[in-house]
Formats: sequence, structure tokens, C-alpha cells
Amino acid sequence: MFKIPFIPEQASTFAPNVDHLLYFLLAIAVFFTLLIFGAIFYFAVRYRRRSERELPHVPHGGMALEILWTVIPFGLTMVMFTWGADIFVRESRPPQDAMQIYVVGKQWMWKLEHMEGKREINELHIPVGRPIKLTMTSEDVIHSFFVPAFRTKQDVVPGKYSMSWFQPTKVGKYHLFCAEYCGTNHSHMIGWVYVMEPADYANWLRGGPTGNSLAEEGGKLFQDLACSNCHKSDNSGRCPSLMGVYGSTVKLSGGATVKADEAYLRESILQPNAKIVSGYQPVMPTFQGLVTEEGVLQLVEYIKSLGVQPPAPPPEVAR
Ligand code: CUA
Repeated sequence: MFKIPFIPEQASTFAPNVDHLLYFLLAIAVFFTLLIFGAIFYFAVRYRRRSERELPHVPHGGMALEILWTVIPFGLTMVMFTWGADIFVRESRPPQDAMQIYVVGKQWMWKLEHMEGKREINELHIPVGRPIKLTMTSEDVIHSFFVPAFRTKQDVVPGKYSMSWFQPTKVGKYHLFCAEYCGTNHSHMIGWVYVMEPADYANWLRGGPTGNSLAEEGGKLFQDLACSNCHKSDNSGRCPSLMGVYGSTVKLSGGATVKADEAYLRESILQPNAKIVSGYQPVMPTFQGLVTEEGVLQLVEYIKSLGVQPPAPPPEVAR
């Protein structure tokens, strides 16, 4: 016998919620389909024309009926709305302690990077039971990161960061799809998510070539691109110090303020003149084309690391 998977496996904390809503919508659709078709057949028979000369009886008014068939569908659609909105809001708010993974989509592969520097292509290894937050961008066109077993699907758009999160509940191997038509080999832009026991995940993370962490790579890039010439940690450079900037509120020239999140850092690297920090001149060149999306992610991660660690001691000065 064929086993047709009508519903994918439930492998995240979202899956039961999404499925219950789906069953509710299905039940309503089936109920009204049967009700309407039943009524059509019943009325067709009950009120059929019985003789050539018969004139139809036309009823007027029926306030109770009008109210009934307005209020009930209104109530049902409001339930659909609040239920759906609740799931949507929960899926767009990752918990603070979520494990961060970076995703770059390109024609036609998924590149994934762990904080520890481990990279994967079309495969994602994660531990079971931990909330996972994906920060995603694209190098070319719009892709969509879709893991049916987790009931999460999020567009991955060039020029911005999109976020997706989930908490896997079951060890196993799950399909990863690109769910946005992105060119010739869109249908090959697929992969696997491996949900592992935490100990197995730790082993996996240690195995194979271990490179530098993302933040360390970013730190190197920061030197190589000569960012450090202007962004001095003691604020003596021509550009603002980046110590502790991540998560802070930055005052811009013109009086506006902006929260220094990933999107702001990315924009300031690629379009430095979009937002000028109050008290500074627009002297920074753009790094568009000089640094890849992965490079930008590494720089962002480096800048984030400056916020959580105490600043490095200044180099010894000869007296
Ligand atoms: Cu990438 Cu479709």
C-alpha cells in the first residue's frame, strides 16, 4: 500500500498548533459544504414546481434569520482571525535564549553557519529541544526557507534580514525546501534538517574541520578591510567606536534615533550614508560589492561580540 503523507510529521512546538487550526478550518469548510449542498437538494425537492400554472410564493423579511446568518459567520471568522494571529505572533517572536544560526540563500543552495564557525550546505544540524533562531538573507533572488515538519516557512530576501524560529521536539531527519520559485534549479534547492540529541550535536559540532568562530572571522575581516583604522575602540577615530553598540539606541544626526540591530549594522556597512551617527561626518565608503553576505554576517557577529565582552585592553604605550 502507498503511504500518502497528507500531513507532514509534527516535529516542532508549532506543529500541533498549526495542525489544530488547519483541522478547525477543514471542519468548518466541510460542515458548510454539506449544509449548503444539503439545503440545495432539500429545497429543490421541497419547493419544486408542481404544476404548469403554479406561481411561486415570495416571502418578505425574516429578521431573525438575517441576524442569525450574519452573526454566526462573523463569530466563526473572528475565531479564525484571533487563532491565526496568535500563531503568527508566536512564530515571529523568538525567545531570548534561542540558538542563533545564519542562513544565506543563493541560486541554488542553502548555506548555513553556526556561531562556532561550523558551516554547512543544504544540511542543518541542530539539537532537539532548543529554540533555534535563523537570521537569513539572500545573495541574489527571493528564496523561501521551508521545513514542513516544523510548520515554518519564511521568505529569504536579498538586501534584508528575515527571521524565523522554531523549537524541534523530535530527533530525526526532515525535509528542507526552497518554497519560492527562484530560477531553473529551484526544485533542486532542497536539503535536510538533522535534529539530534544534544550530546550527539555537541559531538557533531566538535568533529570535522573546526574553523574560527563567526565573530573571530568577522574580527579578521574588520582588520583586513581596514575598518579598525577609523572605528577605534577608544573613540579617538573619525568614526564612532563600535564597543557595545549592538542593541543600543543610536542617536543620528537630525535628532532621530535607531535601535542598533542586525539590520542597522548591515545597512551601515553597505550603505553607510543612509544613517549618520550624530556628531560624525559621512566619510565612510560603501562596502557593497567588497564583502559578501557571509562576510557581512561575520562582521555583524564581531560587532555583537564587542557588546558582550569587556573591551580589550588598549595596546601598551611606550612611555
Ligand atoms: Cu531558492 Cu527556490
